[in-house]
Amino acid sequence: MSIRSLPKAELHLHLEGAAPPAFIAGLAREKNIDIGGIFDAQGRYAYRNFVDFLRVYEAACTTLTSPRDFYRLTRAVLEESAAHGVIYSECFLSPDFCGGGDLAAWREYLAAIREAAEEARANDGIVLRGVVTCIRHFGPEQSRRIAHCAAETAGDWLTGFGMGGDEGQYSASDFTWAFDAAREAGLRLTSHAGEWGGPESVRETLDHLRVERVGHGVRAHEDPDLLHRIADEGVMLEVCPGSNVALGLYPDLAHHPIDRLREAGVAVSVSTDDPPFFHTDMTAEYEGLCRHRGWSEDDIAATTRAALDAAFCPDDIRQSLI
Ligand code: ADE
Ligand code: ZN
Repeated sequence: MSIRSLPKAELHLHLEGAAPPAFIAGLAREKNIDIGGIFDAQGRYAYRNFVDFLRVYEAACTTLTSPRDFYRLTRAVLEESAAHGVIYSECFLSPDFCGGGDLAAWREYLAAIREAAEEARANDGIVLRGVVTCIRHFGPEQSRRIAHCAAETAGDWLTGFGMGGDEGQYSASDFTWAFDAAREAGLRLTSHAGEWGGPESVRETLDHLRVERVGHGVRAHEDPDLLHRIADEGVMLEVCPGSNVALGLYPDLAHHPIDRLREAGVAVSVSTDDPPFFHTDMTAEYEGLCRHRGWSEDDIAATTRAALDAAFCPDDIRQSLI
């Protein structure tokens, strides 16, 4: 069987981060929005480092101004994921880019995303669950507004709350209020950490935000005690190897710690993060792991099962997919 057609579950995909450059360029043209020089000569996203990546990302998002844009985006993203064998996708949805944290606007964007998700499920069989996401460098005050949006719309297909953005800004404890509010609303929790911050950042995230999954988390491998804790507590790391290499965290897959994490008994899943930014997709992720790390079809199947086990969805959805 080809890797492309093997069933896959993806737990770490930013909806806006999955927007193809041509899609964003088309919207910029249609709406006459100046997004600056965010593309290279081949029309691909161009950035110099992680902070510059965030700038380009946010510039691209200025073209996404209506629920209709998000309807089209969601259809395109889920169709592409399904073409790579993805049967279950958890997408980070950012109220910051869907109405700026205004609850009434957020509800309209959500309705559009949901309509697209239902059509994708009927057409391609792919299941979407949403993880409402605040953005760390937008600050703790804004994270409260985002948590409020999340709490008011929690349930049904919106099952998680998370945080992305620049890990170098603020400390995890500044976001405790937002994560507590989301937990009280019944949402399950994840946060980016251990990507640009070291083991201490992962530890603070576990202590203060009490998440059950960590986005990336790969730098936990630098601290054996932390690795034991993560394995013991059953915290899953949403590993995105192609993203880590494209952003320069590791020079290549041969230097990536994913297998050291697995050997330490840590549950890991494999995701693309922001596929067009990193010139990747779920097929390419697993092909890279097979070619450069000796992974087999059994490893892919085990990773898919582990991802479904840690998915923020009820058991009946999980059972229907296994
Ligand atoms: N938002 C989108 N991609 C991200 C990443 N890799 N790290 C932090 N925030 C992000
Ligand atoms: Zn991410």
